[in-house]
Amino acid sequence: MILAQWDSAVASGEAAAPSHFSVRSIKAQSSINRFIPWGYFMKSDLVDELAFSSRLVRVEVLRDAVDYPVTRRSVVVNLSASDAWGQGALPTAIPPFSSTILSGARVTGTLLLVLAVGEKEDGEKSARELGWTDFYGPAKDTPVLLRSSQVEVGEVELDAALVLHQPELPKGTEAFRIKANLWFSPAGTDCGIHNQHDFIEVHTQISGHGRMQKFLDKDHDTLYEDQLLSPGNTNPVPFCLEQDGSYIYPWHQYRADTDCVWLALEYHRI
Ligand SMILES: [Fe+2]
Repeated sequence: MILAQWDSAVASGEAAAPSHFSVRSIKAQSSINRFIPWGYFMKSDLVDELAFSSRLVRVEVLRDAVDYPVTRRSVVVNLSASDAWGQGALPTAIPPFSSTILSGARVTGTLLLVLAVGEKEDGEKSARELGWTDFYGPAKDTPVLLRSSQVEVGEVELDAALVLHQPELPKGTEAFRIKANLWFSPAGTDCGIHNQHDFIEVHTQISGHGRMQKFLDKDHDTLYEDQLLSPGNTNPVPFCLEQDGSYIYPWHQYRADTDCVWLALEYHRI
């Protein structure tokens, strides 16, 4: 159901009847809030546990979730181009490309990841036991950077001018495929300065404290921006700009201040 049809259905009262529907926009969600008491819809249309979900971090994707109960303390990430909503004492927006921590609350949104950290344990040992791959290989003098398998989570329509804060880009949306994986690094790891990606990259902190950093050159002494990440934080604006149909990045890296697990999200234009 497209938005105009949905609004029309809400206005006429027809929208209160169906037990399954897709929430497509902020406007549609606010209409739902006015007409349907929270708790009316108690399930998501689809909940999947992702392939890299494990005892270290349980990872679920919610699609077209309405009033879905998040019972266990979890990082909730909004992957979509429209606001999601967390419901506790009041409904609170979870904007696109952002995240929060919910516990004993309900969530509504078109495409969400819900990540719950497992019992305290040796993260590096667990990640290795789970088969996460050593990004730099086994050499002793390289950073410890372990990567889970990567999965395709879904597709979204994005307006790059809004997402990348580039009003000069052509207006309109394009389809993107989202890929996700987890990373682990131990305390004090500089994960490697780089500046090449053919996708829009975003990171969400899951456990530990880290940072996303920008540099003038491939040199730690040229640091010029330092974005600290605590659990539940997503770096607020993607680091790249679009230029001639490609993405250009500054020199950048992730740094783990403590043992860290973080989520990498890649938005690939289809
Ligand atoms: Fe990167």
